[in-house]
Amino acid sequence: MKITSAQFITSAVKPSQYPLPERPEVAFAGRSNVGKSSLINTLLGRKNLVKTSSTPGRTQTLNFFLINDGFYITDLPGYGYAKVPEAVRKKWGPMVENYLKSRTGLGAVVVILDIRRLPNQADHDLLAWLAHYKIPEIVSLTKADKLNKNKQARQRTLIAEDLGRDPSSLIVFSAATGLGKQTLWRALEAML
Ligand code: GTP
Ligand code: MG
Repeated sequence: MKITSAQFITSAVKPSQYPLPERPEVAFAGRSNVGKSSLINTLLGRKNLVKTSSTPGRTQTLNFFLINDGFYITDLPGYGYAKVPEAVRKKWGPMVENYLKSRTGLGAVVVILDIRRLPNQADHDLLAWLAHYKIPEIVSLTKADKLNKNKQARQRTLIAEDLGRDPSSLIVFSAATGLGKQTLWRALEAML
């Protein structure tokens, strides 16, 4: 995909604040600090369009970006970080579930996992929600640059077993090297 324009539109916590859903949309979700914002920047070829941080729990609202004047990308706040204030954590579930339930135009959710770890309960819960609402998902395993090729393959197999799906369905990705960028775009284009 050639990116001709990518602009931040708005932050939202509730549906009345979402941009008008007149375009197709893809959302990106995953644990705090897993690399969601970095993955989006890499996909778009923009270094700092989306704020990234070494401090987990940085993205705490839904952030909407308009791409090529044609579709939206939504950076969802990460889940599962203990140091996020209790009040914020309590809002996460309803905020994201509301979004998933109500967002017309949502064509797919990219669920981002750290290739070095097995999915946890919250990851499974998210995938269960998506299945429940019949929202198509793409699972991407990021930070692949932290492992050598053999370990990448081994982790991909283990995570696939844990999720009960085929290893080839998991897209190995790295924001540091750009690995998997084309594969992920192809999967997204098929859904947009
Ligand atoms: P929250 O918004 O806080 O939930 O985090 P996030 O999931 O958006 O993660 P973010 O993209 O901010 O990245 C978190 C940290 O991981 C940063 O220090 C990034 O530089 C680093 N990081 C993200 N992706 C990669 C990757 O593919 N490889 C490596 N080596 N580091 C990465
Ligand atoms: Mg983020």
